[in-house]
Amino acid sequence: MALSEITKVAIILTAFFLPILTYLYYTGSLRSKSSGPLPPPTKITSLFIYPIKSCHGISVPSTRLLPTGLDLDRQWMWVTYPDYKFLTIRNLSKMTLIRPSYDASTDTLSITAPAPNSIDGKLGFSIPAHPSSEWLASNTEIVPATVWSTTTTAHCYSTKLTGPFNEFFGKEVRLVYKPPVSDSPRALNGNGAKKVLGRDASTCFADLMPVLVGCENSIAELNERLKKADDLTIDITRFRPNILVKGHEPWSEDRWKSVRLTPSVGAAAWKLGMDSLGLDVVARCARCHVPNVDTETGEEHKRQPWDTLMKYRRIDPGITFKPCFGMLCVPRVKGGKIDVGMQLEVTQTTDSHRYVSGM
Ligand SMILES: *[C@@H]1O[C@H](CO)[C@@H](O)[C@H](O)[C@H]1NC(C)=O
Repeated sequence: MALSEITKVAIILTAFFLPILTYLYYTGSLRSKSSGPLPPPTKITSLFIYPIKSCHGISVPSTRLLPTGLDLDRQWMWVTYPDYKFLTIRNLSKMTLIRPSYDASTDTLSITAPAPNSIDGKLGFSIPAHPSSEWLASNTEIVPATVWSTTTTAHCYSTKLTGPFNEFFGKEVRLVYKPPVSDSPRALNGNGAKKVLGRDASTCFADLMPVLVGCENSIAELNERLKKADDLTIDITRFRPNILVKGHEPWSEDRWKSVRLTPSVGAAAWKLGMDSLGLDVVARCARCHVPNVDTETGEEHKRQPWDTLMKYRRIDPGITFKPCFGMLCVPRVKGGKIDVGMQLEVTQTTDSHRYVSGM
């Protein structure tokens, strides 16, 4: 019996591909790494940028997601002088009273803080939010700045601008800047290191990863507990998320493995073929005492939310002595616009998150 040409081709193709497909299946490459069904899309309810590490944040309706994080997020930081070591809320809780504001019409970042020993006096200065290399060359000098265990090159501003802030800190400080695109990117460590993530990724001055995603449903659940324990509720900005979403079941984000951001249903941009923005969810965010600081007053609560979190949120096998809140993400994008109202879709979940120290 003569086989038709098509049948012959089919047999040859099957003989060729079947072993390859079988191999890929058994090595896991073709099996879904998800466990359980994926949740429905949830909505972005706020976007926050914290231009200067540890200082007050800004809520924005829209911004750009860059490989290093949200535009203008933690591209600046205060450092000691003369050794350029990072300063955070952990060193001085009132750093959160330093308020950056952004004027899009002039692309300017203005920084103000209450003047010490004064009732309503203010310190302040303004700088270009997206400085050109010419501006940086004539107004800053290159210094080695240290964040935790990594040292990276940064642009240091003149004390003609920042001098009055020495008084606020009670010591000599400098302000440094790292542009999101740099010849010497600050490579991610820990769960973001190349050998773990599988590609090169970097950020500016965030502790660990480019983006922190938080869920309203989880902070609401935490607030119920705080209300019972200490008659207290706290604002989400204490956890310094960048992308806040409504979320699903409280804490179900603990298992997210990858997500993508897509325009809200019916948005015109979607029809124009706008790409979705993918992010790898690389780790849970293990917390320190920083969320105990009220971001409006700079005052640190002696117990909460730390004590409550320690009771039920020590859930990561890689860092059992710290409670977790929020998910650390690394964008898989060259850049894209991101807006409040966009949808976040969970594209993969996992049971094997494990925090790898990267500080
Ligand atoms: C600021 O706090 C960090 C984190 O606790 C610490 O590593 C650093 O040495 C402190 N720096 C100064 C100047 O106190």
